[in-house]
Amino acid sequence: MLRNEQYVDSLYEADADLKRTKEGIAAAGMPDISVADGYGRLLTMLVSLSKAQKILEIGALGGYSGICLARGLQAGGSLVSLELLQNYADLAKTHMEAAGLGGKVEYLIGDAKESLAELKAAGKKFDFFFIDADKEGYPVYLEYAIELAEPGAVIVGDNIFLRGRTTDPAKAGPSVQAVRSFNETIAADNRLMSTLLPGYDGLAIAIVK
Ligand SMILES: C[S@@+](CC[C@H](N)C(=O)[O-])C[C@H]1O[C@@H](n2cnc3c(N)ncnc32)[C@H](O)[C@@H]1O
Repeated sequence: MLRNEQYVDSLYEADADLKRTKEGIAAAGMPDISVADGYGRLLTMLVSLSKAQKILEIGALGGYSGICLARGLQAGGSLVSLELLQNYADLAKTHMEAAGLGGKVEYLIGDAKESLAELKAAGKKFDFFFIDADKEGYPVYLEYAIELAEPGAVIVGDNIFLRGRTTDPAKAGPSVQAVRSFNETIAADNRLMSTLLPGYDGLAIAIVK
């Protein structure tokens, strides 16, 4: 029997830009850890619905989620993407350009915590955040996102289940503890309105009040 996610994904035609991106990531020997297809579609919808103009992505990999995010932007909107590795950002930029979205994205290379501190010091604000880098950093990334948020900004975080480790009581490594803390803050913090979606590897969605 097909899993629900496989059934849903099978209803959609292949997307040429996203297929090219996944093939480019595989050809470069990079990990197959782009956001799930269904959540990529959701990112485009959330950006479009929220009419976001200034997106901050934390974790670019090969540009799959960048394409999904940028597709939802109105004319004049932009995406700043934080990525640790120069060669990953270079490939992401190539894929964004191939999708006709290269003019909308700027990559900041280095540890996202340092880039976030610089964005904060420069007084930058954003109205949409996609958190999808190292899992140990999630609590810090969430706090920065709240600080850098315009009122009503949307914050999305991927992989909230860590492929089963989050809900396994036997697991207590640094990534697991960080993601549990992130999920608890998303659910309980008075500054946020939120929901946690259980499909694929789980997705957190919050609005900054
Ligand atoms: C799960 S992948 C991102 C997938 C991408 N958002 C997508 O769906 O297409 C995580 C990315 O975060 C990057 N990364 C890991 N630690 C980081 C850090 N401290 N600062 C910035 N980027 C980091 C990795 O190099 C990798 O490209």
